[in-house]
Amino acid sequence: MTPLDRILAILLTLYMSLVPFSSVPTEPTDAQNESAIMLDVALLSDIHVKGEGSNTHKNLANGLKNLSENFPKLDAMAVSGDLTNGGETDSIRLFYETLLANSSLEKYIVTPGNHDIGHSPLTNSEARKANIDIMNEYLGYENDEIYYSQDVNGYRFIVIGDDIGNESNTPVISDEQIAFLDKELSQATAEGKPAFVICHWPLMHTNGIDILWPGGGVNSDNSKKLKSVMEKYKNVFVITGHTHVGLTSNIFEKIFGYSFVETKNGVTYVSVPCFGKFNRHIPFSPSIFLRMEVYANKVVFRPYNLRSLKWYPKYDKTIALGNIA
Ligand SMILES: [Fe+2]
Repeated sequence: MTPLDRILAILLTLYMSLVPFSSVPTEPTDAQNESAIMLDVALLSDIHVKGEGSNTHKNLANGLKNLSENFPKLDAMAVSGDLTNGGETDSIRLFYETLLANSSLEKYIVTPGNHDIGHSPLTNSEARKANIDIMNEYLGYENDEIYYSQDVNGYRFIVIGDDIGNESNTPVISDEQIAFLDKELSQATAEGKPAFVICHWPLMHTNGIDILWPGGGVNSDNSKKLKSVMEKYKNVFVITGHTHVGLTSNIFEKIFGYSFVETKNGVTYVSVPCFGKFNRHIPFSPSIFLRMEVYANKVVFRPYNLRSLKWYPKYDKTIALGNIA
């Protein structure tokens, strides 16, 4: 742990103890258009559960209780990696136990991140298998690989990840997995619907990864291959975490050239704020999730703080869908 990491950890502990979870919302939590919404999903990322000796799972529990009470109509939740901080199997189990004890959605789409695989005391291949097995056990899946897909309300979520890598922080994505993604996207977008790719790591040149963490995202070769597949299809959304970017304003985007939601060559890249630690940009607060509201002609991303029970309307992002069947 670097000195900066230590300072941030102390500040986070202070913040968590000084800023309690609210239990009464002061703002309505309706979707933008309740009568027209077709898919309503909570996007969370980078939970970083540390184990029983830490408060991290208690903060997750409090946030999930607020989510369940204030967003009862959600269809699903997607968690885009770093479920744990150290990848221990006990911590992975604690993440799922906390999730299922405090949330009762019908569908969860979960993927491990670098902290669940590369930071695990196990080897990467052992950690991959542990993550797959524990996810199957808790979510009732029968996955053999890190990559899989799930449909929610007729929309497809395609999970991709580190299936063959041995690095601590960066993934390696096999050609078999890229072929899987191609086939899934072909099916998912055949009728003009949007499709959602969940991956912990941002692709190169997306969401500021090259500035925030050079070399920390999907490597150049994999990024090129993935982009060439995804850019063949319309209305593809890539939902990631990893960099703890937080929310970026329109002015910030103009100055620094990146955003937590940005569209490039027809593909929309969404970097979900970190839930368990501080974020890089104001508001730094943990416990932020993105509500993804899918309508016939657009997808809306609305950040909400499950600690203060407040929206951040100036950071709302709306992406129009093209060529709807
Ligand atoms: Fe993380």
